[in-house]
Amino acid sequence: MSKRTLAAIGCGGRTYTYVSLAMTHWRDRFDIVAAADPIRERAERLRSFAHTPASFRVFENDNALLAEERLADIMIIGTQDTHHVQPCLAAMQKGYDILLEKPIATRPADILMLADTARRLGRRVMVCHVLRYAPFYDQVKQCVDSGQLGEIRSIHASEGVGPWHFAHSYVRGHWRRSDTSCPMIVAKSCHDTDILAWLIGDPCISVASVGSLSHFRAACAPVGAPARCTDGCPHADTCPYNALQYLTAQRKWLAYVCDREQDHLDRGGAAPDAEIREWLQQAPWGRCVYRCDNDAPDHQTAQFQFAGGQTATLTVTAFDDGRNIEICGTRGVLRGGHALRHRAGLDADYMITDHATVNTTYHRVDEQSGGYDGHGGGDYGLVSQLYDEMTQPDPMAIRASIHRAVEGHLMAFAAEAARLHGRTIEMSGRMGMWSDPGSP
Ligand SMILES: NC(=O)c1ccc[n+]([C@@H]2O[C@H](COP(=O)([O-])OP(=O)(O)OC[C@H]3O[C@@H](n4cnc5c(N)ncnc54)[C@H](O)[C@@H]3O)[C@@H](O)[C@H]2O)c1
Repeated sequence: MSKRTLAAIGCGGRTYTYVSLAMTHWRDRFDIVAAADPIRERAERLRSFAHTPASFRVFENDNALLAEERLADIMIIGTQDTHHVQPCLAAMQKGYDILLEKPIATRPADILMLADTARRLGRRVMVCHVLRYAPFYDQVKQCVDSGQLGEIRSIHASEGVGPWHFAHSYVRGHWRRSDTSCPMIVAKSCHDTDILAWLIGDPCISVASVGSLSHFRAACAPVGAPARCTDGCPHADTCPYNALQYLTAQRKWLAYVCDREQDHLDRGGAAPDAEIREWLQQAPWGRCVYRCDNDAPDHQTAQFQFAGGQTATLTVTAFDDGRNIEICGTRGVLRGGHALRHRAGLDADYMITDHATVNTTYHRVDEQSGGYDGHGGGDYGLVSQLYDEMTQPDPMAIRASIHRAVEGHLMAFAAEAARLHGRTIEMSGRMGMWSDPGSP
């Protein structure tokens, strides 16, 4: 088996996850040879995974790396949402196949442009739609394709982001504003719209959506709450979003955003609390959640119609945890996800009820391959398939190819346009998309 060499642009949390999985579990298939990040230590962190660390090359940014001749077979693009298009385009032109983080881009037109370029140049571009590689969704897809549920007529899906996760990412953090990242439903739920498109298999023809930012705003601030939790808030003991919880129950979130914590973890410990308190006094993550510059809606529901007459709804909310799905077919219904796994005490990840026999069967997804929670083993699943996907003769055949990922991305962008403009977006002839000048 000839190795595939990897290079990376943007060496934050996501890239580290993929590289560490690839180089720990499939070292015989991969080598990491170069990385670029303006925060040098993040790129350097990948050096130890290389087969020959001494020849691993570090660059200060994407431009510097891409100014070189092609250094590897596959480029991982793990920069933030607004900086995917330019390095992806340049890397494709240099001859790289690409592992591209979602969202593909922050504008629909750029998504179509990148897909067209990949097709024209014959590049393999695999989007990090980790749920397509998660054992739970893999089994659900097999069940749908087997015909056991008959023809799919409707799907109800929900995603509870989780109150703390939402506050961390969509109130205080990177994805709090659509103008500096992308709409919340794209950033968080293009995975979910992608799953809907994948399961239904027909093009989406119309999208409606409602939702708003109702809670994480100044009008909801408790009396006397200061700008920062570190300023001594009178509600510190009762507020679910007290940033000082980064020192205790919510410590795991720190490493994603605080290099000091990550540096200490790399050396086998955690940063001293005093250092983290000092960091919280100036970092966005120390702010009161009711006094941020956020505009991401904290709950949104979208409704989709597909060319075969199927319908689907998706609710994304800050105020619940985990993903759930109900797939209603002419012969049976499948219900699965977080609520079943954690709340009903059924010890099942999904259940199927047959309409003819009214018999219900309960199914468990193997914990070893990720169970259901989090990305449900999707990160591991994606990297386990990376070699085979990136050696596919036909780039279109990749399970999460950019060509397949376009549909779900456009559905999410259309949902945001529908929410903002208060009208149904017609998706037929989607290459031209909706012609509303105000659409994102
Ligand atoms: N697939 C998933 O399930 C999933 C989950 C979370 C995040 N994401 C997406 O993954 C992407 C990365 O997220 P993250 O949490 O790893 O972000 P991050 O902020 O931890 O990492 C991004 C890195 O890019 C670097 N960078 C900035 N400009 C650069 C440049 N010009 N050249 C090279 N590097 C540059 C930054 O210094 C940073 O280290 C985002 O688009 C995010 O939305 C995907």
